[in-house]
Amino acid sequence: MTVLTTQHEIRAQAALECAQAFVDAARTRLLHGRQSTHVARALAGFVASLDRCRHEGVEAPFSLQFADDAMHHEGKPLVAPSLQAKALLRAAAARDVAAITFADGFDADECNRLFDLLLEDCNRDSLHRQHREAALAAFGVRHARVSSRTPADPENRALSLPDADRQDLRHYQDLADALHDNAALAAGNRVLGVAGAQGLIEQTVLRLDQAPSGLLSLATQDNVDRFTVGHSVRVALLALQVARAAGALKQQLIDVGVAALLHDIGKSKVPPEILYKRGKLDEQEWVWMAQHPRLGADILLEQDVVLPSAVGAAFCHHMDGHDGGYPSPLLPLKPSGTSRLIRVCDVFEALTSMRPYKRALTPMEAYAVMRRHAHDFDPRWLSTFVRTLGVFPQGSRVRLDDGSLAVVLRQGAMPSTPIVRPLTGPGGADLTADAPDEVAIGATLRGETRTVCSVYTRDRSVPVPEEGYAPLDYLTQTVHGACLRRGPHGSPSESARRQRTSHDCPW
Ligand SMILES: [Fe+2]
Repeated sequence: MTVLTTQHEIRAQAALECAQAFVDAARTRLLHGRQSTHVARALAGFVASLDRCRHEGVEAPFSLQFADDAMHHEGKPLVAPSLQAKALLRAAAARDVAAITFADGFDADECNRLFDLLLEDCNRDSLHRQHREAALAAFGVRHARVSSRTPADPENRALSLPDADRQDLRHYQDLADALHDNAALAAGNRVLGVAGAQGLIEQTVLRLDQAPSGLLSLATQDNVDRFTVGHSVRVALLALQVARAAGALKQQLIDVGVAALLHDIGKSKVPPEILYKRGKLDEQEWVWMAQHPRLGADILLEQDVVLPSAVGAAFCHHMDGHDGGYPSPLLPLKPSGTSRLIRVCDVFEALTSMRPYKRALTPMEAYAVMRRHAHDFDPRWLSTFVRTLGVFPQGSRVRLDDGSLAVVLRQGAMPSTPIVRPLTGPGGADLTADAPDEVAIGATLRGETRTVCSVYTRDRSVPVPEEGYAPLDYLTQTVHGACLRRGPHGSPSESARRQRTSHDCPW
């Protein structure tokens, strides 16, 4: 069951988690300021991950490199930590920082002082190579070395990502960054960048038309922020994929994408110690958390441009359409088609994500849970969702029977026979020049027939059952783009708001 089998893989994972912890600490610092207890926790997490690198035998001292689009370790791109690192990468580029090396003795306070130099606009010029050492000394940074890009080859670290991958990476970073900025604006009671979000979703729709598997594959790797930014970007990508399969028109897709991207914007008003609590919420904390739909609708109603579908989705995405879920309105309120679709995507994303208290489920495991709670969902959207994503959703990483790793490009003839692109050769070896671009699972190619033997979730590799997956023949209902039109009660009114907490809701 475990993904990590060799010392090399264990060291690579430790380095990856260390880079993620550094990005997390930087993002937290940018959002909450240097004095926040939440920042202190994130900084301590990074220092602990440095210790783990030492313990696992990662080459010391630990070093991170910064190119324009991605962070690297030992010359290899670290895609997952880079997904939400746009602001950090931008700050490093503005200061001509190519690498930071962390020596023994580097602690949380020193990291906070390093962030003073690396992230604060007022110190933007302090790290210039001519007076960098003096600045580091003045700020008490003695256990980190900062190096510059070489003038002869300033972009040397950006070459290891293929062009298409860089495009997808940039696109995903833009989505995450826009959401991050909007969360910060909402937390400060400032006007959101709704037009910018709409423009980004429009570009996302185009990108999903051209090459869907790249963006969707990145979504399966994003686990820097498990609660807000990463979750909302993934929900938006899922909702766009399903709405497109249902025949939604371009403007409907943009409305759905923006509504999905902003559905949890109300969480920006929830205290961070509750939002990021690693354990179960107590009753009082839950009351706070359960307010996020109403808070989100309030934020979106106060914008210059009010988007009814986004307001409705923010308010209704935890309602089940049968007077269950939360919040419970005083007047009858029927969630819109967009809200009902986002509810399905929201729950699926939560089930297939890793949380501090649970593992990530495979899509089939998530479908089984959702079927047990079928009353909570619009049956047509649930059906369309499962048929669109299939057993191995686009972007999933799978291991084939010859030991090669592959990514799912699209659905094939059967739910369990997707078309995949090999990422490695047999047994994990490097790809050879004559490796096929695409492999149809179950079809014979060059005298061989490949099968999928395991699928990766965010934290493990799950074998395909020997008997295979039962066909998804229980899914017979269909849905179409017209279901995305708002009904007469599609968005909440001010008088229709009342909070109700729900402890029996599994999501
Ligand atoms: Fe939510």
